[in-house]
Amino acid sequence: MKKLLHPVTVTVITLIFLFSLPFFIKQKNVTTWSDKKLRQSALNGSYRAIPKDYRGLLELLDTPDNRLTKEKIALGKMLFFENMLSYDKSINCSSCHLLNSGGDDNLPTAIGYNAQENPFHLNSPTVLNSALQKYQFWDARAKSVEEQAAGPVQASFEMHMKPKDVESRLNANSNYKELFKNIFNKDKIEFIDVQKAIGAYERTLLTYSPYDSFLDGNNSALNSSAKRGMTIFLSKGCAGCHSGITVGGQQIQHFPVRRYLIDYIGVLINPKLSIKDNPFPFDNIGGFLGKNNEQNFKVPMLREIAKTAPYFHNGSVKELKEAVRVMSKYQLGNEFSKRDIEDVVSFLKSLSGEIVEY
Ligand code: HEC
Ligand code: HEC
Repeated sequence: MKKLLHPVTVTVITLIFLFSLPFFIKQKNVTTWSDKKLRQSALNGSYRAIPKDYRGLLELLDTPDNRLTKEKIALGKMLFFENMLSYDKSINCSSCHLLNSGGDDNLPTAIGYNAQENPFHLNSPTVLNSALQKYQFWDARAKSVEEQAAGPVQASFEMHMKPKDVESRLNANSNYKELFKNIFNKDKIEFIDVQKAIGAYERTLLTYSPYDSFLDGNNSALNSSAKRGMTIFLSKGCAGCHSGITVGGQQIQHFPVRRYLIDYIGVLINPKLSIKDNPFPFDNIGGFLGKNNEQNFKVPMLREIAKTAPYFHNGSVKELKEAVRVMSKYQLGNEFSKRDIEDVVSFLKSLSGEIVEY
């Protein structure tokens, strides 16, 4: 008996007991909140419904830097679809941001001028609702859609144009000359006004979804699986990062937050890799490491997410349920059960809607 209670034996038994605890303690099952509690929790937090009328849009998105007018929005729409903004006049913004299929291209990475792939293998995000984000781009380097619009026009692998060439092409076109003159009251078209007109149009590209309808008071807009998924999303920590009216787009966060022994083992098995070479729980195609190369990324918005596969900055993950599993494990340290993942996916599907006609 004395031998059995040797301190080493006791320590070993205690350790085995402690490590096996997680297998015995069943994860507490999440029960769906009542409609009232679900709606109130969302609205008490940072979540809001998309406005359905022009006045609501103006309250949210009109800015002294770029006053919205119907004429400016219409001009921006023409420019969004204008091939003249690309070097060989072959592509426009909508080539990579297709408005009727989620506002992106559904490719792992964007293909631009001269069939070039994005050099960092970056996935095209959606333009829908993007004007409501605090940051634009995967590394959050632009603050507004107007600032953002200067990027793709000039990138050699996207539209490959110089601002002065955009200006001379448009100034040679009498229709554009007259439209710009009426709106911006300048004798010559300037690149900054091209950015402003496109930004004005993007500010109207908002989608109203079943989730918005639920926030607006319609209890039957979400099915029971989506309501349980929304309960999980709000109560288990997803909401801490994917916050605000866009359900994301408002913060910069590290990814992945956690690593597991299994990741290191996987790397040991593959001699070509190290955690530093492959810092993600998926292929590090493109080598992009976010803001300041520190694995800090703009938290993506989740509106329209079910329509914008594949997922993550380099489009490495094909299915939404796998993206949710990766998030629960690596961002929350709490890998969700199959049922929880399914319900969160149902909730995320409810974030897809139709572009509002303002
Ligand atoms: C060749 C494909 C391609 C073209 C053409 C293109 N984009 Fe993009 N767009 C992308 C990619 C890829 C990103 C992400 C780049 C990054 O984060 O560095 C992006 C990012 C954006 C974003 C930021 C969204 C977010 O959530 O961060 C907006 C807004 C946007 N584009 C609008 C436009 C506009 C306006 C045009 C036309 C002037 C345009 N794009 C042309 C591929 C394209
Ligand atoms: C600590 C902050 C944080 C938490 C918590 C978090 N996320 Fe994320 N999420 C991010 C970041 C950052 C990315 C972008 C990572 C990348 O692409 O490299 C992301 C990406 C995603 C994507 C892919 C988006 C796209 O456009 O490809 C989905 C889907 C997603 N998160 C859902 C969730 C869900 C569901 C939860 C809760 C289980 C959650 N996230 C928890 C920060 C977070």
